[in-house]
Amino acid sequence: MKAIILSGGKGTRLRPLTYTGAKQLVPVANKPILWYGIEAIVATGITDIGIIISPETGEEVKAKTGDGDRFGARITYILQEHPAGLAHAVKIARPFLGDSSFVMYLGDNLIQNELGGFLDHFKEQQMDALIMLRPVVNPSAFGVAQVDEQGRVVHLVEKPKVPPSNLALVGIYFFAQTIHASIDRIQPSPRGELEITDAIQNLIDQQKHVEARQIEGWWLDTGKKDDLLEANQIILDTCLQSDLCGELDAQTQISGRVQIGHGSKLINCTVRGPVTIGKDCHLENSFIGPYSSIADQVTLIDADLEHSVILQGARIVGIHQRIVDSVIGQRAHLKTAPQRPKALRFMIGDDCQIELA
Ligand code: TTP
Repeated sequence: MKAIILSGGKGTRLRPLTYTGAKQLVPVANKPILWYGIEAIVATGITDIGIIISPETGEEVKAKTGDGDRFGARITYILQEHPAGLAHAVKIARPFLGDSSFVMYLGDNLIQNELGGFLDHFKEQQMDALIMLRPVVNPSAFGVAQVDEQGRVVHLVEKPKVPPSNLALVGIYFFAQTIHASIDRIQPSPRGELEITDAIQNLIDQQKHVEARQIEGWWLDTGKKDDLLEANQIILDTCLQSDLCGELDAQTQISGRVQIGHGSKLINCTVRGPVTIGKDCHLENSFIGPYSSIADQVTLIDADLEHSVILQGARIVGIHQRIVDSVIGQRAHLKTAPQRPKALRFMIGDDCQIELA
């Protein structure tokens, strides 16, 4: 059994962050989203993993993630020249997959459930495909499944205007090698992509064994800002362990679960966990409220924030109003004049969203 993780794509919904970086490397609780997927797969015992990358962000994904050693896995990188669809990604991974069954994992998805139970069920029943479903309030934004009483999938449709159910396809799939013939039979959809839903529908049309299981725990598709903040909150809530490295002065107060990396310095700060702060940060006269993740080399001086994700190398100086529900990109600078500002002065890139609340 092998696995592929899809880490190419366009990432339009997380712009402007994804102009300069891969969306799968955006950190959740200071760890790239992609790595949660790798760890979940390795936890099932699968160690032969192919990662689909794009020409734009592939080198960054490779450089950061490496050959798999740190996860106890062997990673093969597979270049997809164009983001031509999820089924297209399987097609180009064919030489890597050979005749193996495989797990396909979308690199921007996170789920709470462990995969081992689903994998055992897939193998025992010798299925052609096992998909995972979750009820959602807005099924039109997802691939949607119609399922009979035995859990067999009757019909699948991608982003339907009139959804046949409220069951969305979660971005984790188990496939036997029979999926390849179905992919060969389908045509690109009206949006020009080879859709995995069409390939699975083709398996169903060929009377193959396709089942669905509903997942109970949370599922986050971190492709959008609010989902990213929610993922950050859930992971900090459930996984963060206190670990205070770095240098904290006598005025600094820490409460709740807080992680601080080596080389970080906190002067006269209040930190209320759950909060994670990376390495080599400089924090001074600042309040860091719950559900904040601060990456490496961040500077916060006279700043006040909570429920936010601050990426590597960002600088926030003299912003006395509380920053909430925000994602601040790598190396971004936010500052005000030392006196109370009379005017706001901006240089804002394309697709930024700024709300003075
Ligand atoms: P999506 O989120 O469906 O697509 P996208 O990355 O193009 O994002 P957006 O809608 O913001 O423009 O993709 C799900 C995952 O699969 C994501 O990790 C990117 C990856 N992917 C590929 O690797 N190759 C592809 O051809 C596509 C469409 C997606």
